[in-house]
Amino acid sequence: MPLIIKDEYPEKLFREDGKRLDGRELNELRPIKMEVGVIKSADGSAYLEWGNNKVFAAVYGPREVHPHHLAKPDRGILRVFYRMATYSVFDRKRPAPGRREKEISMIVSDCLEPILFLELYPGTSFEIFIEVVDADGGTRCASTTVAALALADAGIPMKSLVSAIAVGKIDGKQVVDLSGIEDKAGDADLPIAITWYNEEISLLQFDGEMDLDEMTKFLDIAKDALSKIHQMQLVSLKSKYITLKEGEGEKKR
Ligand code: CDP
Repeated sequence: MPLIIKDEYPEKLFREDGKRLDGRELNELRPIKMEVGVIKSADGSAYLEWGNNKVFAAVYGPREVHPHHLAKPDRGILRVFYRMATYSVFDRKRPAPGRREKEISMIVSDCLEPILFLELYPGTSFEIFIEVVDADGGTRCASTTVAALALADAGIPMKSLVSAIAVGKIDGKQVVDLSGIEDKAGDADLPIAITWYNEEISLLQFDGEMDLDEMTKFLDIAKDALSKIHQMQLVSLKSKYITLKEGEGEKKR
């Protein structure tokens, strides 16, 4: 596979027919597939294919905190470990977790903590392990989305799901769901997550240039895309139980 370096980015991110390089319209999401209950040793788990991204999430808890000194006497703690596999990108990623992985782990944790009732679980921990096995832009959003599903699959009481998407600007046009090349060669990138129980934004990052008017429009188009992702999350959770009820599949956990 070719090594993608900055100098090799395409000059234009739109084709002559006005579509994006992967054939999408401005507001079109990449194909998304979600499945819960995919890892039998976890308390809850989920798998997400989002364009070329492939991400697993495994949830454990509530359980004893290791190391013990991290335990809090009045509440549970949430620990998120985002990892991108060495083979998940064109240039070999260093196996040891770097600053980017620590940052994304923290972001995902900050997005998910508000939906949990950690005060009901003093002295315990919930741990979420996220493994990105194929990466192509937007893995922090994919990770947040799939981790919320894995928490729900674990049967952990939650106020709602969380969904996330990156919107942005490429060649001066606003688009939803940036692919890897659009993320790198585009003008602006804005990952957003929403907690559905209160419809509050729990993640808003920004990289690039835009004015306040553009920012407001971005939030509108993001909300539409986030609603679609939320629906897909609900369908994937329900479909596990429909399959079990109809006896059409083996129990996955
Ligand atoms: O994945 P996300 O967009 O949330 O985070 P990013 O740091 O903006 O990375 C954008 C994309 O760059 C990733 O999804 C990967 O496809 C790629 N990347 C890479 O090729 N090598 C790395 N060491 C890190 C990221």
